[in-house]
Amino acid sequence: MRVAAQHGKQESLFMANRSMKSNALHCIYLFFILLFILVPMASPLEAKVTKSEFGSTPDGTKVEIYTLEEGALKARIMTYGARLVSLEVPDRSGKPSDIVLGYESLAGYTADPKSYFGSIVGRYGNRIAHASFTLDGKVYHLPANDGTNTLHGGIKGFDKLVWHGREIPNGVELTLVSKDGDQGFPGTLTARVRYTLGAHALKIEYFATTDKDTVLNLTNHSYFNLAGEGHGDILNHQVMIPADRYTPVDASLIPTGELAPVAGTPLDFHNPTAIGARIDDNFEQMRLAGGYDHNYVLNGKTGVLQEAARVVEPTTGRILTVETTQPGLQFYSGNFLDGTLTGKHGHVYAKHAGFCLETQHFPDSPNHPKFPTTELKPGETYHSVTTFGFSTAP
Ligand code: BGC
Repeated sequence: MRVAAQHGKQESLFMANRSMKSNALHCIYLFFILLFILVPMASPLEAKVTKSEFGSTPDGTKVEIYTLEEGALKARIMTYGARLVSLEVPDRSGKPSDIVLGYESLAGYTADPKSYFGSIVGRYGNRIAHASFTLDGKVYHLPANDGTNTLHGGIKGFDKLVWHGREIPNGVELTLVSKDGDQGFPGTLTARVRYTLGAHALKIEYFATTDKDTVLNLTNHSYFNLAGEGHGDILNHQVMIPADRYTPVDASLIPTGELAPVAGTPLDFHNPTAIGARIDDNFEQMRLAGGYDHNYVLNGKTGVLQEAARVVEPTTGRILTVETTQPGLQFYSGNFLDGTLTGKHGHVYAKHAGFCLETQHFPDSPNHPKFPTTELKPGETYHSVTTFGFSTAP
């Protein structure tokens, strides 16, 4: 009996011991599980950045492409033209699509001088009238590449040059040194553009310095189709632009100098409206541009990040929100796309296959002293920020 009792005691001690051990083990497991869950939540998430080769330009310069991945977003940026080559964004069911127009290979980009797909445009985004401007009493002549005007920096603008890329936290920094006299512009200019990816937004930050007085207007020329590139036209996209005024243009798309109210015109996007709803209205500005190709005067303070546009694509639920520190926004509805360009996956880009929201200074500002100045002087640093945020509607 005693033996049996002792045995029973030993057994229960053993059992107690075992359950203590297994409790301790459970605690250790729990500790590690919590560690794995909580540590990534507490520390900021970093985008994964990888670099690879993307071929060579016709003159033999090597081009690299950087892939940024963060959460459900993926962006690819190449050093030729500092271009956004692809941008994968999930729809309302989580299915990702590439929502920017472009080409699969470098050759597509180098063979297309006119569309500026995904590029950083410089030195001067949009038009400069009669390919000339006066600065500090001196007249500067630029190459004309749009009738008698200069468009997007001239014949060989920043979109057609190979930038120097380097990985930075969450993204890539691209640097370009444009020599004094490049495309007629004064001053040696050093431009730096940083693309960084967060879980819900792509941020583009611009910096530049010069060694002589000059003018500058940098922007990004991505064409979006929130249903996915190559998925028809963008006429059903609902656009909201909270701007009260725009800069009307003449027949060659040069601003008249007026800041006109959008109220009562097809350019009023205070209330979300389909791009196609008024695009063919019998309104002179729409006829001149063949659709939307207008600079909006943003209501907020230049230098302070403000919402510039919000676009909803009803079939996929994708929402694009653009914020910027710039004073203007060029809303371009892809009017000059004409079905002659074959982009990614053999997709033919017809009229209105994509739209651009180019955050910028006003077109032709160097010839309009009343527009916000685009002058940059030695010792100053040009700086602007634009974010493209993504979400979905149910
Ligand atoms: C301009 C259009 C031009 C297009 C070229 C836009 O920024 O506003 O007028 O045709 O770029 O791709």
